[in-house]
Amino acid sequence: MAKGSNRRHGFRTRAIHHGYNSADHLGSVSPPVFMTSTYAFANVAESEQVMAEERDGYLYGRERNPTQALLEARLAELEGAEACVVTASGMAAIGSLFLSLLSQGDELVIHPTVYSNTVSVTGDALPRFGIRVTKADMRDLDMLAAAIGPRTKLVYMETPINPTAEVLDIAAIARVVHTRGARLVIDSTFASPAVQRPIEHGADIVVHSLTKYINGHGDLLGGAVLGDARTIRAVRGQGLRYITGATLSPLSCFLVMRGLKTLGLRMRAHGEAALVVARMLQAHPAVATVRYPHLPGSPGHEAALRQMEGGSAMMSVELKGGFAAAVRFMDRLELFQRAVSLGDVDSLVMHPGSLIAARQRVYPEAKLADGVGVELIRVSIGLEDVEDLVADLRQALEGEG
Ligand SMILES: Cc1ncc(COP(=O)(O)O)c(C=O)c1O
Repeated sequence: MAKGSNRRHGFRTRAIHHGYNSADHLGSVSPPVFMTSTYAFANVAESEQVMAEERDGYLYGRERNPTQALLEARLAELEGAEACVVTASGMAAIGSLFLSLLSQGDELVIHPTVYSNTVSVTGDALPRFGIRVTKADMRDLDMLAAAIGPRTKLVYMETPINPTAEVLDIAAIARVVHTRGARLVIDSTFASPAVQRPIEHGADIVVHSLTKYINGHGDLLGGAVLGDARTIRAVRGQGLRYITGATLSPLSCFLVMRGLKTLGLRMRAHGEAALVVARMLQAHPAVATVRYPHLPGSPGHEAALRQMEGGSAMMSVELKGGFAAAVRFMDRLELFQRAVSLGDVDSLVMHPGSLIAARQRVYPEAKLADGVGVELIRVSIGLEDVEDLVADLRQALEGEG
């Protein structure tokens, strides 16, 4: 910690202070934003020492920037990881990770239900580069073990899963993956480190879309990869430096740190409101299914109680009236906004079935992940007054029961 005693501070304290000492920056309580693309050296010898990593310093903004370095240190601390690299978006994190750690002939095992663009990168892009991708339902540990072969480098999953909000058991899956000699990557975007820290449960690498809860205010895109120092060095030195070049801007780093300061508080409020909404929806006569990690009976609920401190605020809902009812319900909402992102202070709702069908007209390879029905509605509960959210959902469900 930058300041104080040896006592380990709590999550919220570290989210506000970790890695920064205002005394080193003219007393500025808020960290400075280093808006520079390059760094000058006193002489050639100094530039050589920085280049050779024999001396601390910065060279060029695509690889490192002090504002970025502070955000990375803070995220690593909160996630319980040795190191972190931030990227221009969540997809940049996922792409930089895959293209740094996987080569032609390597294999990746993936849970069949993941975020739609992760479906595309693993189902379409990686096979084009000679990387074999195998789907294995990770609720079945025997099936998972059988899918991991000698060339399997990485096993990849999300929990909670986008868009179903189902939960997978990190500790049980990590044991199987390690016994078979592979490494487990978890996209923990739906939870954030305030709610779930997969490395504590045995995962090796964590990815986040910072665009979602970690920034939390829907005003930027960002991503992060977290793990051991060697892996993160590879993702920065290859994936970020010369494969994707997808660096997060210093201003965005600053804004993510501003968001981080309230992450613990926001996730508690998000989770409390989401549980109220999930219970209301479950009891509503128009609703066929509600999946929410902390709702008893929801898929993976027991694992959620073990590995998540709170249920986060993502849920999936299916109406008895199916696809047509989903569209009617979406269109009647007044306070919830129809938008594809999630994890914002604003409540957002999206219907993957209608959006993917429309995207296929432009990108034929786009598809819904396995296990996602066309009737599924994804709901992201924001921080408005929960009574207002419940009232909006009730009026939109009227006549569907
Ligand atoms: C689980 C998950 N992972 C990754 C991403 C990609 O993040 P970004 O939109 O920041 O590229 C998303 C975006 O929705 C997501 O939901």
